[in-house]
Amino acid sequence: MAKKVYTDYFFDEPAYNTHDGGYIPLVTPKTAPQPLAIPPLLKPDKQTATDDYYTVKAQASETQFLPGKKTKTWGYNAGFLGQTIVFRNGKKTHIDLKNALPELTTFHWHGLNVPGPITDGGCHAPVYPGETNHIDFKVHQPAATTWLHAHPCPSTATQVWKGLAAMVIIKDDVEDQLPLPRNYGVDDIPMVLQDREFHEDNQFDYKADYDPDGVQGHTALVNGTVNPYFDVTTQRVRLRILNGSNRREWRLHFDDDLAFAQVGSDGGIMPEPVYMTKVMLTCAERDELVIDFGKYQPGDEVTLMTDDTPLCHFRIKAFEPDDTKLPDHLVDIKDEAPTPGLPVRKITMDGMDEQVAMDGKKFDMQRIDARQKVGDVAIWEIRNTNSTKNGMVHPFHVHGTQFQVLARNDGPVYPNEHGLKDTVGVNPGEIVRIKVKFELTGVYMYHCHIIEHEDGGMMAQIESYDPDHPKTYHLMDMETLRNAFAKEKGVKPEDVWMPGC
Ligand code: C2O
Ligand code: CU
Ligand code: CU
Repeated sequence: MAKKVYTDYFFDEPAYNTHDGGYIPLVTPKTAPQPLAIPPLLKPDKQTATDDYYTVKAQASETQFLPGKKTKTWGYNAGFLGQTIVFRNGKKTHIDLKNALPELTTFHWHGLNVPGPITDGGCHAPVYPGETNHIDFKVHQPAATTWLHAHPCPSTATQVWKGLAAMVIIKDDVEDQLPLPRNYGVDDIPMVLQDREFHEDNQFDYKADYDPDGVQGHTALVNGTVNPYFDVTTQRVRLRILNGSNRREWRLHFDDDLAFAQVGSDGGIMPEPVYMTKVMLTCAERDELVIDFGKYQPGDEVTLMTDDTPLCHFRIKAFEPDDTKLPDHLVDIKDEAPTPGLPVRKITMDGMDEQVAMDGKKFDMQRIDARQKVGDVAIWEIRNTNSTKNGMVHPFHVHGTQFQVLARNDGPVYPNEHGLKDTVGVNPGEIVRIKVKFELTGVYMYHCHIIEHEDGGMMAQIESYDPDHPKTYHLMDMETLRNAFAKEKGVKPEDVWMPGC
């Protein structure tokens, strides 16, 4: 039987970001195509059969994006974005987190099941300029494409805009056995999708571009490359796509409607491949796609688009024929029954602009909004209270867990939502039901991943607790952070610009 090929983006069309008053359309770059930058793999400081040791350094630098002046940027062991970090399921991992920036930052492991709130690296775990913190954790989750980004509330958005985001790939024995491309940089390609605005002398100016509903720019970047091309030297190519944008949604398709298979989502490989000609990623989502270029000849070019803008040109070179077929079934995902007797946790994402809130409240670092027993399997219902007429899709993200999406408005989930997720786009007026289990104790944030919305307070936190071993947490407070930023910048605390506060 022929496989079903989906040809729509699934999300509600009237809620696309293109309908925002403040929408900034992408422009097709005038600069000549350049090779897609492939971030190098971060070398471990030391590796044993059981342990990996890394140093991740946040640093300031300059990056050549456009002809002319270089742009002042930040990155992780890199000028902009970061070297790609590879973890292995089951390994004890030890990381020195070095802050060589002039201001405090945090190192958040988005999508990793690690203890919160310190190892997780949200707002409670600042690393001050010139200092190094150390974290240790055991990787215990399936192979996946996750990421690292800065998360110092409420300056997450500015720091990510400057470049503090990197891809983090988890490997395991199950994924190793699947017939998927996995030669990094050759047929297994990271693609961090972002947009930026270039001001005078090619510089970023976050403050000038500020929009409380999310900052956007006219220029698309893939791994920091403007107008990239990629030379296809194998018939099948796996793209690990990360929406690393502050606000932009990506609606991907090829210029000739080439069909592809989605094999992975945020939390790893999906139970079955889903065949499609279009896919939409809301902020922070990851999709792993396998593209079969078998029908093209050397010299052909096929272009990955977002809406009507070209994003990356795939230039077909000679390659060996490859008749590998994806199996109909990829991995098993444990489908645990909800813990009996638990009430459904109801959450609302409210408002737009400065009015954004979570459950009707603005985020408070010192307030724990909810509690869930470690190991319990709970149903959460996330409602986007925006109006269906002029609301927006809010990507709902939870730290420290990978959840399953159960239903959209009591109906089926999208065909590519049967795998593990840590971020799910919720349409205006919609209720998305998810199943959440924390395997570790800790305080974890949950929020809209339009980064200006989280900075603006559409965020809350939950404690995963063990009744037999109660813990108290030292939670960060706004005053400490504001004073620290003021000291670093040499200004009075009341003069620190904190967007969203
Ligand atoms: Cu990408 Cu609070 O996280
Ligand atoms: Cu996160
Ligand atoms: Cu939002």
